[in-house]
Amino acid sequence: MSHDSRSKDPGLPPGEGLRRGLTSYGDTDFSLFLRTAFIKGAGYTGDALTRPVIGIAATGSGFNPCHGNMPQLLEAVRRGVMLSGGLPVEFPTISIHESFAHPTSMFLRNLMSMDTEEMIRAQPMDAVVLVGGCDKTVPAQLMGAASAGVPAVQLVAGPMMTGRYRGERLGACTDCRRFWAKYRAGQISGEQIEGVEGCLATTAGTCAVMGTASTMACLAEALGMTVSGSAAIPAVHADRLRAAEASGAAAMALARSRLTPDRIMTGRAFENALRVLLAIGGSTNAIIHLTAVAGRLGVGISLEMLNRLSEETPVLVDLKPSGQHYMEDFFAAGGMGAVLRELRPLLHLDCLTVTGETLGARIDAADGYVDRAVIRSAAEPFQTAGGLVALFGSLAPGGAIVKRSAADPRLFEGEGRAVVFESLEDLAGRVDDPALDVTPSDFLVLKNAGPKGGPGMPEAGYLPIPQKLGRAGVTDMVRISDARMSGTAFGTIVLHVTPEAAVGGPLAVVRSGDRIRLSVKERRLDLLVDDREVARRRASLPAPPAVARGYRRLYLDHVLQADGGCDFDFLRAPLATG
Ligand code: FES
Repeated sequence: MSHDSRSKDPGLPPGEGLRRGLTSYGDTDFSLFLRTAFIKGAGYTGDALTRPVIGIAATGSGFNPCHGNMPQLLEAVRRGVMLSGGLPVEFPTISIHESFAHPTSMFLRNLMSMDTEEMIRAQPMDAVVLVGGCDKTVPAQLMGAASAGVPAVQLVAGPMMTGRYRGERLGACTDCRRFWAKYRAGQISGEQIEGVEGCLATTAGTCAVMGTASTMACLAEALGMTVSGSAAIPAVHADRLRAAEASGAAAMALARSRLTPDRIMTGRAFENALRVLLAIGGSTNAIIHLTAVAGRLGVGISLEMLNRLSEETPVLVDLKPSGQHYMEDFFAAGGMGAVLRELRPLLHLDCLTVTGETLGARIDAADGYVDRAVIRSAAEPFQTAGGLVALFGSLAPGGAIVKRSAADPRLFEGEGRAVVFESLEDLAGRVDDPALDVTPSDFLVLKNAGPKGGPGMPEAGYLPIPQKLGRAGVTDMVRISDARMSGTAFGTIVLHVTPEAAVGGPLAVVRSGDRIRLSVKERRLDLLVDDREVARRRASLPAPPAVARGYRRLYLDHVLQADGGCDFDFLRAPLATG
């Protein structure tokens, strides 16, 4: 019997397409026969089945309003694949939305990455288009694709448009926090906060500011994993669909060139991405995600490297939460093309991208328009040093992060008295207690909100200003925790304290009344308690409770600290040497 549905595409090696990764029956011809019989049942012709297969990882979900444009994006990707002679095949994976994931989206990111990796590997595809957007989805997809080793293009949903409330321009979610703080301080009424609630997210798409989703979109482009100029296109703009079509075409070219993610996401590409992260005043979460993606490829990212790059890389972009504009303004002002052009002398221009061009060639080919009100020049930046810095010291031997671009510099140097909350529940129960012993110069400390303690490292690092202080006009205080912070948040907030309290890090022994010293200039965070007392307190720490079953158990047994990207230990590749 002649039975050959192998690819007829002259650019593909024989034996690919639907023959890839046959199901194990002990008879490969039978495996292919059975696969072909089933897919013919879906109405495909023999011609279609000889084409290169482009998988499309789809993450539409009724629980993920940020991905509301997924049907149109998928249609445009399919069009791009077919116009290039390929066969597009969609498949679903886990989808995660920030506000619909319990206990946190971060808790589920690694599960999504495993789902993405295994479904890419298990199903026959010559290349894949990853369609994500909301915060954890893009890192999960990049982690999965890096481990699967199949050529991949990242496409993002794109940012939502801004709305208006009584004439004031609003966008999720920096303004969510700003208005919530006003409501807590009694400056706006219940009726007004309800009105605001209806105007914060007025279209499909990801948060309208340089939060984690927008940051990861920009970093995916900086890494070379998207088509050029696509990171900032608004979700509802026709250019977003054109980028989707181009992503489908790029995936077809990748199926022929076999350019795999490990050849694009190299150590030098991650250095480029870190530069861009600093220049855009991006989300603190991105450090964790970049570390996790890099770790899948044996590339190490250290906080010391972040500090070095931070000194040399100015903040160029005037966007919320560090500045005043929104993502649609960033797109209109020239977007990533303008940022990359400005950073050109600092970038590794020979890094490859998914379209086979080098980063340098992309920069040269991009439209040269820039609106300097939004994207500044390197000579006259928005801020002279990078947006993020790492702190080390006796309270954070493994490091901590502060987003100085979105903080109050007047609070960067000095000592404070600790006001400690043992957990999220303790925080919720006491922070607004009128009897809470707290002053504006104290340091609020939250424990047990790290990768294991949360669990899932909740975005709780933006501790609310105690209500009595908020009502007295206090808008910022030093806040320290092992938690993360939303990329849309702002304030003098020290995050990711490592090791976390739940694994016995120094944070676990801090007590209310202790003195803590912060120096952003010296990159220090120190607990001013003597070593003997720390040892005595440590000896009396309770043992962590035994856990449970299922994914939560897998998570707690294997999740790494922030300096390991909060990935699972068994998913990382050995660190490459040299
Ligand atoms: Fe989806 Fe902000 S909640 S991007």
